[in-house]
Amino acid sequence: MGRDVGFGVVGCGVVAGYHINGILETPGARLAAVSDVVEGRAREFGERHRVAWTTDYHDLLKREDIDVINVCTPNGMRLPLAEEAAQAGKHLVIEKPIAISLKEADRIIATCARMGVHLMCIFQLRCGRAAMALRKAIQEGRLGRIVLADAAIKWFRPQAYYESAAWRGTWAQEGGGALMTQGIHTVDLLQWMMGPVRAVSARMATLVHRIEVEDTIVATLTYATGALGVIEATTAAHPGLPAKIEICGDRGTAALEADQITTWQVEGMERPVDMGGGSEVGKAASDSKTFGAEGHRAQITEMVEVVRGGKRPTVDGPEGRKAVELVLAIYESARTGRTVELPLK
Ligand SMILES: NC(=O)c1ccc[n+]([C@@H]2O[C@H](COP(=O)([O-])OP(=O)(O)OC[C@H]3O[C@@H](n4cnc5c(N)ncnc54)[C@H](O)[C@@H]3O)[C@@H](O)[C@H]2O)c1
Repeated sequence: MGRDVGFGVVGCGVVAGYHINGILETPGARLAAVSDVVEGRAREFGERHRVAWTTDYHDLLKREDIDVINVCTPNGMRLPLAEEAAQAGKHLVIEKPIAISLKEADRIIATCARMGVHLMCIFQLRCGRAAMALRKAIQEGRLGRIVLADAAIKWFRPQAYYESAAWRGTWAQEGGGALMTQGIHTVDLLQWMMGPVRAVSARMATLVHRIEVEDTIVATLTYATGALGVIEATTAAHPGLPAKIEICGDRGTAALEADQITTWQVEGMERPVDMGGGSEVGKAASDSKTFGAEGHRAQITEMVEVVRGGKRPTVDGPEGRKAVELVLAIYESARTGRTVELPLK
């Protein structure tokens, strides 16, 4: 492809700004047009970035200068946009979670495969330097046999956050609360580092916010390796702590907070030099708009290479689906009071 890779952003809300900045800052990427069902938002984004805007995303699917559609609509509003975009031959960058049901996720993945277009799911925390280094150490066996692998997402969102858009806080359109929308990033990191989870047992509650979905949830995990773990997630812990992953093995213990290694006690291995500072990708403990933009930029940069034929997306559809399956298993256990085994049927 001789020209720049053209991107069209659908859904001009909070996260769209991260996609647009990523596109504008990536050599070889070009923002071609934006769309939102709310005319004022579409116009504002379009005029600010001097690109075409529309309230009907079909206009973007017809444009030949758009190669990639960035799906920045709410969690439960991926279909039919994602399927129609794939059918129009557009590659997709989809925000997390890929969908709020496995049925929808599988439809999106299958349509992209059938149409021969690439599907990238945003899980920008995987681009964090400290997260990558910790995963490598675990996979090389530097911590020994892992016995416990835990995640704690003790964040805060005010009631006003849930009232800022009608989809937030609803099972039908958000598909869950503290775990599906906020915790899922750390859930994804945990399963990316540890491999598949075999069984979960969970409890959830809505303790502080006036919303349908949970604002507090706890799950115990059994990994396929036999290791055990706990996930705790809330959006009601004022003022919000950095999301934490703690991994304990029989030769070492390490903890990751946001994208910094805060504990490193590993027999025979110095804290890797590049683990110190970390990056800003994981910081959203108190506000959904305060995390660093470098993760989205890194994924957009990768998408340019993908479209040009150099590689496949690192976080493709099946990769993006894994954390959703784990979250849904945890919800099923919390609803039924039973231990739920994975993979889900
Ligand atoms: N990766 C991250 O760290 C991160 C951060 C924030 C949000 N997100 C995800 O991004 C998605 C959007 O979240 P947000 O906070 O930006 O939401 P938002 O409510 O601020 O924005 C969503 C926008 O989509 C628009 N929209 C809905 N249906 C549409 C359609 N059919 N066509 C065009 N526009 C449509 C809405 O009008 C709204 O402007 C969610 O899935 C969320 O989980 C990810």
